[in-house]
Amino acid sequence: MKPIDLIFATGNDHKSKEVAQILDQDWLHIKSLKAVGWVGDIAETGTTLEENALIKARAVYNKLGGNVFSEDTGLEVISLGMAPGVYTARYAGPERDAQLNMSKVLSELSAGKARTARFRTIVALIWEGKELLFEGLVNGQIASGMMGNQGFGYDPIFIPYGYDKTFAQIGDQEKNAISHRYRAMMGLKKFLAPKRKKR
Ligand code: IMP
Repeated sequence: MKPIDLIFATGNDHKSKEVAQILDQDWLHIKSLKAVGWVGDIAETGTTLEENALIKARAVYNKLGGNVFSEDTGLEVISLGMAPGVYTARYAGPERDAQLNMSKVLSELSAGKARTARFRTIVALIWEGKELLFEGLVNGQIASGMMGNQGFGYDPIFIPYGYDKTFAQIGDQEKNAISHRYRAMMGLKKFLAPKRKKR
């Protein structure tokens, strides 16, 4: 049976690695932007995760066609009014520095504010020209400081619900079994699974 070919519209190697692990199926062939010869960044000018995910998928679809998906992820801290949200990547400034971003969140919570938070991932899929969105959430809380050195981004300060360690402490395998990204990708997989039978 011919596998389903899908382009993953991301330039983020951490995301590519996680998605390759999460969607490791012999009927699915995920191609990176590098593999399809894409160069350059796609400006994320949307005001929601949904808009940004669609912007990335549309940019690649409009140029290359085919079936393509992208994802946009935000950290949402309830007591900060769901910030950093869509501004998660550049929360502390345009340099998109993970340490500075985490320090900013930690200092904003230092005045005894509630630490409840969640990661939210939106996957945008363009399948045979039609747009679909899938969401994945993981609830948890912001740690008192940075802990662990695995994962990426805000992983050292996020403790998923039911755990006493951060994503950066529990490591890729366990993270990828419960994460926001895993949950969003399961929506994508559920949509794609019946399509393969038609090939
Ligand atoms: P974007 O989805 O590429 O715009 O990423 C938004 C921001 O969230 C970046 O600062 C990423 O480092 C961070 N981020 C995305 N996914 C994760 C994750 O799984 N863990 C921790 N931080 C993440």
